[in-house]
Amino acid sequence: PGGLATYDPGFVNTASCRSAITFIDGDEGILEYRGYPIEQLAEHSTYLEVAYLLLNGELPDREQLDDWVHEVTYHTFLHENLKQFIQGFRYDAHPMGMLMASVSALSTFYPDARDVLDADARKLQITRMIAKMPTLGAFAFRHGMGRPYVYPDNDLSYTENFLAMLFKMSERKYNADPRLVKALEVLFILHADHEQNCSTNAVRSVGSSQVDPYSAVGAGIGALYGPLHGGANEAVLRMLREVKTVDRIPEFIDGVKNGKEKLMGFGHRVYKNYDPRAKIIKKACDDVFEVTGVNPLLEIAMELEKIALEDEYFVKRRLYPNVDFYSGLIYEALGFSPEMFTVLFAIPRTSGWLAQWEELITDKEQKIARPKQIYTGYRTRDFVPLDQR
Ligand code: SDX
Repeated sequence: PGGLATYDPGFVNTASCRSAITFIDGDEGILEYRGYPIEQLAEHSTYLEVAYLLLNGELPDREQLDDWVHEVTYHTFLHENLKQFIQGFRYDAHPMGMLMASVSALSTFYPDARDVLDADARKLQITRMIAKMPTLGAFAFRHGMGRPYVYPDNDLSYTENFLAMLFKMSERKYNADPRLVKALEVLFILHADHEQNCSTNAVRSVGSSQVDPYSAVGAGIGALYGPLHGGANEAVLRMLREVKTVDRIPEFIDGVKNGKEKLMGFGHRVYKNYDPRAKIIKKACDDVFEVTGVNPLLEIAMELEKIALEDEYFVKRRLYPNVDFYSGLIYEALGFSPEMFTVLFAIPRTSGWLAQWEELITDKEQKIARPKQIYTGYRTRDFVPLDQR
């Protein structure tokens, strides 16, 4: 504890990369960012402080934190041409598709983004992207509602500003309930990084070609869009609505057991124990529902979890709730449409993606991604003329 991790040299051949950012023990249900347990960060920190930790390896002192918050706040606005680009989407475009396209489009606004080997240029793009993600997400949300976009208010904190850009409906200052701001800070901290998951792997793989970071993060957003990854939180709400009532849970569970359904929000490639983030999110539900009223689907979710945790099918396969099982209930209670849930995952995960990208770019031994394959096709054979096939 407190020292540097060691590893089995034999493991090196199978790993996709070395990293010092996030540690997960899937059997014990442990998650640490730069050695700090997620439970302590969720309780004591803010999202921007955690983003600084992921990017720089250490918690900031007061001066470093103030400088970091000032820099991020300075970059929250978007170029008006990018706003017009977003306005060009169909009225019902999925916000994740809009986010993926607009983040990638940012690469055309900053030619210095291609100087990936220059530390100052990298720091500027990282700050810009972390600052602009809430603005991009809020513009996509307002676009879907057919409402005018709300520009950033740089007098507000990072999460307050995001809520204001989403929900402000008049010229009056938008005052978010502090309990909702705290819940969103916790959710952002929990989603900030998660080692070599599908979307981070996409960012590293695309980033290893030394393309600009906006294009690499655009690829990560595409991976996160998938229902088996970030899209699961949206799928959980659809699943709970399909189950409809507690007495229909046994019928649904039977459907899962005979392969007709998946219990969305359950299972994980690494956690074969309770996802530590799911426990914290479940607690955050109570704070949010104090303000918004309890989400009626909570009862079904809790009964589903109870039954699944006692059922042989799930116990044998070591399937437990993951980060997506409860987060959608909070997002819906906060007033987000289901299509926005994965955007709420992508915004905080941007700091993790960029910390992993920076680690990759500055690793002298890191080469361009070229995964091995197991070839199972035909070997050398002669061409067959068309009239003989
Ligand atoms: C995230 O990697 C990360 O860290 C991702 C993430 C992050 O922060 O970046 O944590 C975020 O993506 C969380 C996961 C969100 N996805 C879902 O909730 C979708 C539902 N979950 C599953 O699709 C599934 O659990 C995966 C995709 C997450 C993991 O799939 P695996 O690796 O195939 O699971 P497994 O090998 O452990 O499966 C073992 C068995 C299999 O059955 P058998 O072939 O042995 O009969 O369990 C079954 C699977 O079919 N199974 C499920 C199930 N998940 C696995 N059966 C029903 N419901 C499920 N959810």
